[in-house]
Amino acid sequence: MTLPAKRAEPINTIEIVFPEDSNHFQSLFGGRLLAWMDKASYYAAFRYAGFPAVTASVESLDFSHSPKVGDVLDIIAQVIHTGRSSMVIKVDVYCQDVYHKKEKVLANTGFFNFVALDHEGHPQPIPPLLVETETEKSLWELGLKVKERARNRRQDTPRKGQKN
Ligand SMILES: CC(C)(COP(=O)(O)OP(=O)(O)OC[C@H]1O[C@@H](n2cnc3c(N)ncnc32)[C@H](O)[C@@H]1OP(=O)(O)O)[C@@H](O)C(=O)NCCC(=O)NCCS
Repeated sequence: MTLPAKRAEPINTIEIVFPEDSNHFQSLFGGRLLAWMDKASYYAAFRYAGFPAVTASVESLDFSHSPKVGDVLDIIAQVIHTGRSSMVIKVDVYCQDVYHKKEKVLANTGFFNFVALDHEGHPQPIPPLLVETETEKSLWELGLKVKERARNRRQDTPRKGQKN
């Protein structure tokens, strides 16, 4: 049975960089940011699929700007590509130094692959993504490249249960 296509709404979350989130340079520890982005992706995947989902892989993450303690982050996660049970989520992180009233800047972009699971933990079919506008089409193409990269990488990397 083919499920009806649906549109993906972006999920916006806000985080504030506190001292316990920082590294030795009083800027945000990368692992903390990764966790925040993964959490936002999870919620985007869950809201889209209507089923719990797991992170299957993180395809790329570029740290182009260092958020500092006190900065406010807008984390925007959106499903941009769907397969049978998998979703590619694009996450953009905007950073603002609110104390010094600076402009918001795009700090990071990452791509996360999630797989929806049924109540027994097996991959669960999800609705296909509705792709109509030019923006949606170009994001779909970007997501397709991310999915292909993940597939190629898996072919080159030993997997669970595979002998070294
Ligand atoms: C991700 C997981 C559910 C895939 O299970 P699997 O039995 O290998 O599933 P399949 O091979 O049938 O693939 C199911 C889908 O997952 C996708 N997939 C599997 N591994 C993937 C990976 N590493 N990266 C991206 N997509 C992946 C497949 O392309 C397929 O997509 P489709 O249904 O849209 O065609 C399974 O490996 C798992 O549970 N991993 C642990 C996840 C986890 O615990 N994450 C948190 C880590 S802290």
